[in-house]
Amino acid sequence: MSSFDLIVIGAGPGGYVCAIRAAQLGLKVCCIDSRTALGGTCLNVGCIPSKALLESSHLYHLAQTGFASHGIACNSIKLDLTRMLRRKDAVVQKLTEGIASLMRKNNIAVVTGHASFVAPHKLQVAAQQELTAPHIVIATGSAPLAIDRAAFDGKHIVSSTEALAFTAVPSSLAVIGGGVIGLEMASVWSRLGSAVTIIEAQPRLLSDMDADCAKTIGTVMQKQGVKFHLNTSLNAATVKKNRVELTYGEHTQTFSKVLVAIGRKAYTEGLGLDNIDVSCNARGEIEVDTRWCTAAEGVYAIGDVIGGAMLAHKAEEEGIAVAENIAGHAGHVNYSAVPAVVYTFPEVAAVGMTAEQAKAQGLQIKESRFPFSANGRALAAGNSEGFVKIIADAAHDELLGAHIVGAQASELIAELALAREYRASAEDVARTVHAHPTLAEVTKEAALGIAGRMVHR
Ligand code: NAI
Repeated sequence: MSSFDLIVIGAGPGGYVCAIRAAQLGLKVCCIDSRTALGGTCLNVGCIPSKALLESSHLYHLAQTGFASHGIACNSIKLDLTRMLRRKDAVVQKLTEGIASLMRKNNIAVVTGHASFVAPHKLQVAAQQELTAPHIVIATGSAPLAIDRAAFDGKHIVSSTEALAFTAVPSSLAVIGGGVIGLEMASVWSRLGSAVTIIEAQPRLLSDMDADCAKTIGTVMQKQGVKFHLNTSLNAATVKKNRVELTYGEHTQTFSKVLVAIGRKAYTEGLGLDNIDVSCNARGEIEVDTRWCTAAEGVYAIGDVIGGAMLAHKAEEEGIAVAENIAGHAGHVNYSAVPAVVYTFPEVAAVGMTAEQAKAQGLQIKESRFPFSANGRALAAGNSEGFVKIIADAAHDELLGAHIVGAQASELIAELALAREYRASAEDVARTVHAHPTLAEVTKEAALGIAGRMVHR
């Protein structure tokens, strides 16, 4: 039996970062994952492969539809999907190997296998392999949520995992769910030539995000050729002759592929939680206190498995904080300053509260919005769609939230997350010198607008 100071179950962004931080703080650490390639969902079948395909498909689409306006004539643009997928796989491999090397550098023991609790401080990985530690962190992540009416078959009705590896462009693709995965995957395959239809049960897309941002991205994607059916329920899905017949709302239509992206659920299968008297809540999540402690002494949980925003960077911060707590320091995560991004084109990004959330808390707010169409850099690049919206407290000007739809929103949001972290005022952002010409000037103008001082509007 091997003993450690800390065992982390799961080597996704939450788990591997937790393991590294604990090792930096002098703990003897083991990290267990059932995949041989480290990095969890994010690196293997999530954030990274999807961003590789989003970039490649964006370039393909741009070459077809955007180059001509820059005076670049391309006569025969061809898609080499095999090469595109190979590139994506190479990016994933490079990054997962990078994590393996970080684990070695930090002297972390990496064990491959499915860990299961046999007692609060004891895990079994294989028949003969038991590991013990006074501290165990569960970072097992999440898995795609299935739907009875369209059960996954891995071939015709698939999750995002298979949708990242279609070996041919589906002539038609139905996407159930107009959330983050739905919009990102719809973007990839529609740019590559698939006729994409999104079926969303709610009256709007991206229901957790700013309504104006969601509306704008919907309109832009519609112009890009994606069809939307909002407020529409899926009734049935039947596989017939290598295609899927879907009935939804008033429609019956057949598709080459159906992607079900209706959310993800905490993954606790085979973890042996019964053996340590830890139960899950109604959503299947492990409940923790403010220090990520579960009901079992010395057992902690972080990331997607505890609920909250299912975001890699939120899991990473929790991993760092729990490692610091275990090592006797004061770990902390500021949940009010966690940015969220949807990597469509243009991108959608947010941090802090929406106007509705602020009002629901009884706050008096001021809102200001500045469009990219009035920004020199955006026009020069030909990316003038979208806006930056700032929400500030009406009484003392604290920046409560920021919402962006526009090119490079994923990068622009970092400034506003920092502003949230420092509890900056909108005036602080407005008085900060922003380089010209940059997209970030739109942020400055939106912040200036809170005090009624926009210059270019
Ligand atoms: P999601 O929660 O973002 O969206 C699911 C959508 O499906 C919702 O709009 C919901 O109303 C709809 N829906 C639910 N049941 C339905 C039904 N029966 N018929 C039609 N629509 C239905 O979940 P998604 O997109 O699957 O993503 C899962 C998680 O992964 C999210 O928490 C997301 O934050 C995370 N993620 C984050 C990414 C990023 O940061 N860029 C990228 C991909 C995933």
